[in-house]
Amino acid sequence: MSSKNPQRYNVTTALPYANGPVHIGHLAGVYVPADIYVRYLRAKEKDVVFIGGSDEHGVPITISAKNEGKTPQQIVDRYHSMIKDSFEELGISFDIYSRTSSQLHHKTASDFFKKLYENNKLIEKTEDQYYDQEANQFLADRYLLGTCPQCGYEKAYGDQCESCGSSLSADELINPVSKLSGNKPVKKSTKHWYLPLDQYEGWLRKWILEEHKTDWKSNVYGQCKSWLDNGLNPRAVTRDLSWGVKVPLEEAKDKVLYVWFDAPIGYISATRELTNDWEKYWKDDDTKLVHFIGKDNIVFHCIIFPSMLKADGDYILPDNVPANEFLNLEGDKISTSRNWAVWLHEYLQDFHGKQDVLRYVLTANAPETKDNDFTWKDFQARNNNELVAIFGNFVNRALVLTKKYYEQQVPTPDTLTESDQEILQQISTYPQSTGEKIERYRLREAQQEMMKLARLGNKYLADNEPWKLIKTDEQRVKSIIYVALQIAAQLAYVCEPFLPFTARKLKDMMNLADRNWDALTTQKLIDPGHKINKATHLFNPIEDHEIQAQYDKLAISKAKNEEAEQNLEPLKEPVTYEDFSKLDLRVATILEAEKVPKTGKLLKITLDTGIDKRTVVAGIAKDHKPEDLIGQKVTIVANLQPRKLKGIESQGMILMANNPDGTLHFVSPEEDSKNGAQVN
Ligand code: MF3
Ligand code: ZN
Repeated sequence: MSSKNPQRYNVTTALPYANGPVHIGHLAGVYVPADIYVRYLRAKEKDVVFIGGSDEHGVPITISAKNEGKTPQQIVDRYHSMIKDSFEELGISFDIYSRTSSQLHHKTASDFFKKLYENNKLIEKTEDQYYDQEANQFLADRYLLGTCPQCGYEKAYGDQCESCGSSLSADELINPVSKLSGNKPVKKSTKHWYLPLDQYEGWLRKWILEEHKTDWKSNVYGQCKSWLDNGLNPRAVTRDLSWGVKVPLEEAKDKVLYVWFDAPIGYISATRELTNDWEKYWKDDDTKLVHFIGKDNIVFHCIIFPSMLKADGDYILPDNVPANEFLNLEGDKISTSRNWAVWLHEYLQDFHGKQDVLRYVLTANAPETKDNDFTWKDFQARNNNELVAIFGNFVNRALVLTKKYYEQQVPTPDTLTESDQEILQQISTYPQSTGEKIERYRLREAQQEMMKLARLGNKYLADNEPWKLIKTDEQRVKSIIYVALQIAAQLAYVCEPFLPFTARKLKDMMNLADRNWDALTTQKLIDPGHKINKATHLFNPIEDHEIQAQYDKLAISKAKNEEAEQNLEPLKEPVTYEDFSKLDLRVATILEAEKVPKTGKLLKITLDTGIDKRTVVAGIAKDHKPEDLIGQKVTIVANLQPRKLKGIESQGMILMANNPDGTLHFVSPEEDSKNGAQVN
């Protein structure tokens, strides 16, 4: 049920996790298409808000923070500004780029929950959930690892298997272990609040499967149908974690909202931050709400968030959710952990001033209906053969000839031939044909349409050869240049949603005022006598060595990944001899060993170091039985500051080889080495 003539638009883009930089996959799937759509609406002078921001909660952020020895806030601060700046530089024209760690968001999300709670829209359940006794923590979502029951992948998470994409619940995982300690978790009872999605199933079926059968993309519709056909279950919207939006209930002081509950509310918070008049964008039926997302976000935006909005009762629902498929890089899945990606901030550094080239190539290859591939060769070819050779070449010729023959003034045409008139008629149709495609979220075809106009111009000049005719038929040349300038002007306007930097330059070069998109449906965009400015090149060829540099970068990632596939850790940073000599390594012998109660892998070991007898706690019980260890010669770090593990003071560390298969072996000195002997 698409509102035919909305009063205003609310366009949102998935809030990226502030846990790493954005790459071309994010851009092609979400941000570039959304930006094209919004720029088009603005050109039509529609009332539109374009909403973005960082998703700053969730378990992966706390894990990164822990790994880096930072606070989650420090992590999200770093990536939020990095992402925000790079989007801006690429010309993604958000009206606001907010963040979910903001106070206003915490209040908005907390109030949202409270209203559902008070109106009895949530159900309470007390259940046993996995708990890590060593870390004293429940193992929500990504804190739990185990084998996927669907595909057998051994590192599936408590909420999802990244190998087969199945959405999982913690209880389905086979052999679950804690990501925090590596221990087998125990079960502990805890109370949570659930959104009873099952109660919304009938309504969702009608809303999606009937009302949006024809206007939603088939990939989106198909995923929704399969979720609905499998039956929906109540979904927990709270977690036992400390990083997130606090659950606003006395009895839930130590709990936060599930990240996928708070994040989409971030769209609302951001709109509130943008304007006091925010409610009309969220609560008025005359507003068209559109969510741009990637395919991994479909269920959250088409089923869960709409059910939340419906449960509240005051909100409008999305009119469309044009989710894209994934973009691959050089034939391989983009992967952050494998550094197989083109990072936006690096691109902007390496290809300074070439924002539009990336926008163009990503749209030309947009994964709209199927996964698609980005290659640097194709990037170079599209720049050199399309942007430079067609678009740039046409515009440059038209403007340079105007300068050369007419002192930078649009000439008064002589008699326009039939074919001139036909061309003028044709160019007046491009705003509409391009716009129709944009409105149907076919950005790739829309951009092709725009390029057809550039091709038309290029061919027109090539066919008419004014640079030859000038010697024989000056009058005719006036008409030709006049027509070419009309085409160039139309191109300046129609390319704006796709190539905003180019449009700006071209409008400046041609001295063109901004115009409403709907006023472009005319055969005359620029008058005879109109003075244009000096022409500069819109695009420049990209050289082979620039492309080679990118392939070299990828080759490094590939080599590192191959090394990692053998499970060998990459070499650490070099240290000085002085650093090394601070360590006091010694030979010692194990005198006693016993299990530390209530842990799966810790042993309490007594050592004879030659100098003293001391206790160390070592996490080796998985591969070593205590009784087998007596008399074992080992190498230890003897001057490590003592630390407490499970209440036992560990006075040093036994050196172990961490094998690629995960087993641990002693780094043992020869049998007759003396206890206390220094190792260096
Ligand atoms: N951070 C999520 C992701 O990157 C997207 C969140 S979209 C929102 O997959 F709606 F929840 F904000
Ligand atoms: Zn799986």
